[in-house]
Amino acid sequence: MRIWSLLLCLCSASLFIGAAFPGKADGPGHEAERIFQRAKAEDFKGDEYCAACHEDKVANFAGSPHAACMSSDKLPLGKRGCEGCHGAGGVHQDENNPEVVSFRSMTPKESSAACLRCHESTMSASHWKNSAHAKADLACVTCHKIHPDSEPQWADSSFKRGKADDLKKPLFTAAAATKSLLMADEPTLCGQCHTSEIAQFRMNSHHPVPEGQVVCSDCHTVHPSKESKSRFNGVNDKCVTCHTEYAGPFVYQHDPVAGNSGDGCLECHKAHGSANPRLLNTFSRGLCAQCHTEKLSTHHPGQSCWNTGCHVAPHGSNTDPYFLKP
Ligand code: HEC
Ligand code: HEC
Ligand code: HEC
Ligand code: HEC
Ligand code: HEC
Ligand code: HEC
Ligand code: HEC
Ligand code: HEC
Ligand code: HEC
Repeated sequence: MRIWSLLLCLCSASLFIGAAFPGKADGPGHEAERIFQRAKAEDFKGDEYCAACHEDKVANFAGSPHAACMSSDKLPLGKRGCEGCHGAGGVHQDENNPEVVSFRSMTPKESSAACLRCHESTMSASHWKNSAHAKADLACVTCHKIHPDSEPQWADSSFKRGKADDLKKPLFTAAAATKSLLMADEPTLCGQCHTSEIAQFRMNSHHPVPEGQVVCSDCHTVHPSKESKSRFNGVNDKCVTCHTEYAGPFVYQHDPVAGNSGDGCLECHKAHGSANPRLLNTFSRGLCAQCHTEKLSTHHPGQSCWNTGCHVAPHGSNTDPYFLKP
């Protein structure tokens, strides 16, 4: 029994080590891959081994979601426990050429590749590579915190836009909960770099991000996944996941709302915040006249088009072709 499981274990380990990281078609393998490939089955020593020198890390790691899903004996050695991320203990403590997968000192590209060893089901390497954040040289650990006691990575990395301490105080008092192992709640994290967007959320009319009811990733695909190749699956589709009442179809559709012309909802609304009520781009007939130019001066002049009892259903109507009734 014992022998069988040991054999099985060795077998899957060598399979894993031998075959799991074939050279990538689009270039040489990454750093972590190389360090894993160095390891023989007997180099994997288990978490106890690490605890001898990194007791604090082993202790505080226990509550992490990674701990729960990386502790199973059924996993190949190279995906199990501490060594699943950092490489085999035997290689780290090798007398001649010690090496360890160190997410902190690798380049952002190498560091991210080391995460993607396991997260290829979240997104492929090429999805990540083509994202705005990867192009800007962010790494996974720029936003994600793997050990509970990790200090933010980017404050002392090549990407210097904010101060590490800023992440410790929430930007808005009603912060939404921090999820997905992020360094901080989203506005606080994202706001370190995207300051002008945060300013928009401070305008009179705004999506309730400061109130903690909506977060950036409700609308943004912060990093792509296999399902979502683009930033949005079309802006309108995104907006109507929450504002279902405007999803239509209406008997009488309004072209821009239906997404047939222009930028859809954004033809009339700001996404983050606006000085005008209802997140509107402008609060005069000019809003409508950007398309209905012929109506600018002669059609019931002086009034705004919707809040005078006229086009009360600018998003479309089931009863009136001119949107005069809902
Ligand atoms: C015999 C003591 C010892 C053992 C056992 C040990 N380490 Fe280390 N480790 C060290 C020392 C000393 C350093 C700091 C020196 C250095 O950077 O190489 C270190 C550094 C590290 C680093 C940081 C490297 C960097 O520069 O950022 C990581 C990650 C790490 N160890 C992980 C592990 C893991 C995972 C295990 C278990 C498989 C382990 N260690 C086992 C002594 C040990
Ligand atoms: C899911 C991947 C993952 C696992 C599993 C993991 N680590 Fe880490 N570890 C990281 C990352 C990422 C960093 C660097 C950034 C950070 O601290 O979050 C790191 C940093 C470290 C460091 C260096 C800290 C420093 O101050 O430079 C040590 C030591 C370490 N880990 C030990 C361990 C030990 C021991 C375990 C097992 C209990 C473990 N790690 C499990 C990803 C992991
Ligand atoms: C050895 C495999 C492995 C490595 C390497 C690894 N992860 Fe994971 N990670 C997992 C598994 C398994 C899960 C849980 C299942 C899932 O959500 O996919 C997980 C979950 C996560 C989650 C979701 C946690 C939650 O609260 O839902 C995040 C975020 C994450 N990993 C980030 C990272 C980052 C960043 C790195 C690189 C520092 C990394 N992972 C490296 C295996 C790994
Ligand atoms: C700019 C910040 C940022 C960077 C960089 C980043 N993430 Fe994320 N990640 C997020 C946010 C925000 C979420 C929460 C999205 C959600 O839960 O809807 C998330 C969620 C996740 C999740 C859990 C949800 C899921 O889709 O499975 C995983 C796993 C994950 N990220 C892995 C990674 C990996 C791997 C990398 C690097 C290749 C990475 N992240 C880089 C911000 C980031
Ligand atoms: C460490 C800095 C940093 C952090 C943290 C960060 N970003 Fe970015 N983000 C950038 C950079 C740099 C770009 C590239 C464009 C630019 O220079 O503004 C970018 C681009 C973007 C874009 C434009 C994407 C595109 O495809 O054009 C969006 C949207 C975005 N970030 C949202 C977020 C969200 C949401 C978060 C928080 C989960 C976040 N960012 C966290 C630095 C950051
Ligand atoms: C209600 C949905 C929504 C929320 C919530 C939201 N955004 Fe946006 N964001 C958008 C839309 C839609 C655009 C495109 C706006 C445009 O093109 O005028 C955008 C544009 C951006 C851009 C500029 C992208 C570029 O190409 O220039 C950044 C950066 C950004 N958002 C960051 C954030 C951050 C950071 C947060 C959270 C604090 C956030 N957003 C919350 C919908 C949203
Ligand atoms: C995650 C859900 C969600 C998404 C996605 C979303 N919204 Fe909202 N939106 C809200 C919430 C919550 C409010 C506040 C409602 C309230 O206070 O009654 C709101 C309010 C609004 C308002 C009214 C603002 C005011 O001052 O009265 C407009 C206009 C609006 N959203 C347009 C959009 C547009 C355009 C999009 C797509 C870019 C969008 N929303 C995407 C949740 C969402
Ligand atoms: C043709 C211009 C136009 C387009 C396109 C448009 N809206 Fe509006 N929207 C308005 C106007 C005008 C108001 C203000 C109505 C009022 O105050 O009675 C408004 C108000 C709203 C409100 C606030 C309603 C309330 O009662 O508080 C929401 C939410 C909203 N729009 C969502 C959307 C969404 C989602 C889309 C895209 C599917 C969209 N709008 C497209 C013109 C537009
Ligand atoms: C992005 C361009 C755009 C904007 C902005 C816009 N519309 Fe339209 N609207 C259209 C298009 C396209 C049609 C259908 C084609 C047509 O017949 O002109 C239409 C049709 C209509 C109709 C149906 C009658 C008709 O002429 O076919 C009314 C009424 C109307 N719009 C009112 C408004 C009002 C009120 C606003 C401002 C709240 C507005 N529109 C803003 C593009 C726009």
